[in-house]
Amino acid sequence: MHNPHIGVLGASGLVGSFLIPLLAGKGCRVTAFSRQRINWGQDNMQWQPLSVDAPATETITLWISLFPIWVLPEYGGWLAERGAKRLVALSSTSCLVKDRSEDLYERGVARKLAGGESFLRTWGAARGVDWIILRPTLIYGDGNDKNISEIAAIVNRLGFFPLLGKACGKRQPVHAQDVAAACLAALDATHVVNRAYNLAGGETLTYREMVVRVFDGLGRKPMLPSFPGWIFVLALSGLRVIPRYRHWTMAMVQRMNQDLVFDSSEAVHDFGYAPRKKFLIKRYRK
Ligand SMILES: NC(=O)c1ccc[n+]([C@@H]2O[C@H](COP(=O)([O-])OP(=O)(O)OC[C@H]3O[C@@H](n4cnc5c(N)ncnc54)[C@H](OP(=O)(O)O)[C@@H]3O)[C@@H](O)[C@H]2O)c1
Repeated sequence: MHNPHIGVLGASGLVGSFLIPLLAGKGCRVTAFSRQRINWGQDNMQWQPLSVDAPATETITLWISLFPIWVLPEYGGWLAERGAKRLVALSSTSCLVKDRSEDLYERGVARKLAGGESFLRTWGAARGVDWIILRPTLIYGDGNDKNISEIAAIVNRLGFFPLLGKACGKRQPVHAQDVAAACLAALDATHVVNRAYNLAGGETLTYREMVVRVFDGLGRKPMLPSFPGWIFVLALSGLRVIPRYRHWTMAMVQRMNQDLVFDSSEAVHDFGYAPRKKFLIKRYRK
């Protein structure tokens, strides 16, 4: 693609913080839509408030959607009005595992993700828009994500991290920058149409090993005591009254011993997906 104009939805989040500079660096013209203003200070990047009622002012054929995929149906007509022809949308591997969760909230998230994906397939076929769904595993950043930084916050607060049993469930955390690069690579790969891909991180490690890396990143000696399930039940019942922790569930705790491993070989083959080989964290708050 030669200096294309790309519309980005939900650009104010973690993946957007890596995607926008990547696109700008490649010489793309970017129009980023989000409800919060973004100031990137790049000449070729323009921000517009995201509003379903806003009239279309110009045609943008290429799109990357970073907001939760279940929001997409609200913007189907809006995208068509703007002349969308090709759309890469982020979903999540959660739709492949959480539909069987014992937790009602998690099953709801899986259902919403599946609904968003299903909308995109039907809408794309009806509107003649080529779509690609990318499903990242657990996304982390450089201290500004909602997953690994939550683990870091617990380590900082308690000085240890409580585990259930051996915490031997396998994980493949993926860096937000690698997800951003995959979005652009998939958009660029014009031979790829109407497909869904998993995006796993380059290293598979156990939940326990992942937490040890967080200790390493914080420069702390790992302390990972193991507790029986009833201690977590008790702790969660207290924590869940605090709004920030209201979605913490026993299902999350039990998943420490469940493998969440996905195959990304099709993404590697079809559009050169290349996540970093090692899960290393840096710049976490001490
Ligand atoms: N975090 C993970 O571990 C993980 C794992 C797998 C997949 N994913 C998916 O990967 C994508 C990118 O992740 P992320 O952490 O960068 O994104 P995010 O913070 O969940 O969402 C990106 C942006 O979407 C906008 N947004 C959220 N809800 C919206 C709504 N109802 N209507 C309109 N805009 C809305 C927000 O921007 P404004 O408020 O500025 O509009 C937000 O900054 C998301 O789709 C997420 O579901 C995340």
